[in-house]
Amino acid sequence: MSYINGYSAEETARLDHQHGAYKAMLHGKLFSSRVRDAAARGEVKRVLDVGTGTGIWCYDALAELHALSGSQGQVIVGTDVVENEQWKAHSGPGRVFVQADLNDEAGMLKIAKEHGPFDVVSARLLSVAIKEGKWETFMQTLSKLLRPGGFVQLLEIDAINSHSCPTHAGQTYREGAEALIVPHALYRVSGCDPHCSPRLAERLRRSGFVGVTNELIYGDSHDVNADGSRTLNKAVDEWMQRTNEHLKPIFLKVRQLPHYKALLDRLPPWILELTDGRPEALLKDEAEYDDFARRHEKRWREDPAWHCAINVAVGQKAVI
Ligand SMILES: C[S@@+](CC[C@H](N)C(=O)[O-])C[C@H]1O[C@@H](n2cnc3c(N)ncnc32)[C@H](O)[C@@H]1O
Repeated sequence: MSYINGYSAEETARLDHQHGAYKAMLHGKLFSSRVRDAAARGEVKRVLDVGTGTGIWCYDALAELHALSGSQGQVIVGTDVVENEQWKAHSGPGRVFVQADLNDEAGMLKIAKEHGPFDVVSARLLSVAIKEGKWETFMQTLSKLLRPGGFVQLLEIDAINSHSCPTHAGQTYREGAEALIVPHALYRVSGCDPHCSPRLAERLRRSGFVGVTNELIYGDSHDVNADGSRTLNKAVDEWMQRTNEHLKPIFLKVRQLPHYKALLDRLPPWILELTDGRPEALLKDEAEYDDFARRHEKRWREDPAWHCAINVAVGQKAVI
């Protein structure tokens, strides 16, 4: 199956909302602290964003570089396998978009020849774009795009593991299990790795990057005010709603596949316990999905323990 989220106008809008949600959960910082430090020293001039989608990351990341370095003149190149209708709106001085398949090493190296080598290569939320078994090749390609000492920054949501929402407060609940079963089935049917997020750092190390670090960030659905009270973050709220809505028809189609049960083979043990070993019995039709979406929404809006787990792995290309 090709890229499972598809390329509709609705998906384009969802990606921009998703960006707003991530910006909120990362407290406005698109670059990790090590990259930000390098940018403040004026060492980040050329950045590549692989699988950029609408290019909104490039737009905001360039502004972040300007603010950090106190200077302009940096260039951010965004690439994606398909041209996005939003590229026009997000391009401008210092922002360039190029169509390229991340699996086509020669095509990617051509971009480095024209615009690189890069000081930073970023790849965000590509876990449903990179097939299982292809991560090492992908990372080796990224290394070839970087200058020695340049940074790779990978960010992925952990939709499956024990760090994800349902077990944060030591409790498990049905909509927590359902919220993991949906992406799990979609990762598996696309041939992608449901456990890629916590494995990023290990894979970077194995691919020869040095000084590899991993930061686990708990993204909240609420902002915490100065007096300690909490306000629902509109961007996160809207992104979560849109995502559940967007995934519904895709999941329900996958749910009907004869091998659906086999797609749920790597779920964490607590889901098996919660479902008497039958996770495939959940979410059996549209009514059950809608009911899940309602309970899930109530959870991220009302449960202070709700969060999503985000891994940001950073490594450097060795200086030989
Ligand atoms: C979930 S979106 C993330 C977009 C963007 N990185 C962001 O954080 O907003 C995944 C992106 O990967 C892109 N993609 C899928 N397969 C790809 C490939 N083979 N080469 C390059 N990009 C690809 C999709 O077109 C889509 O824009």
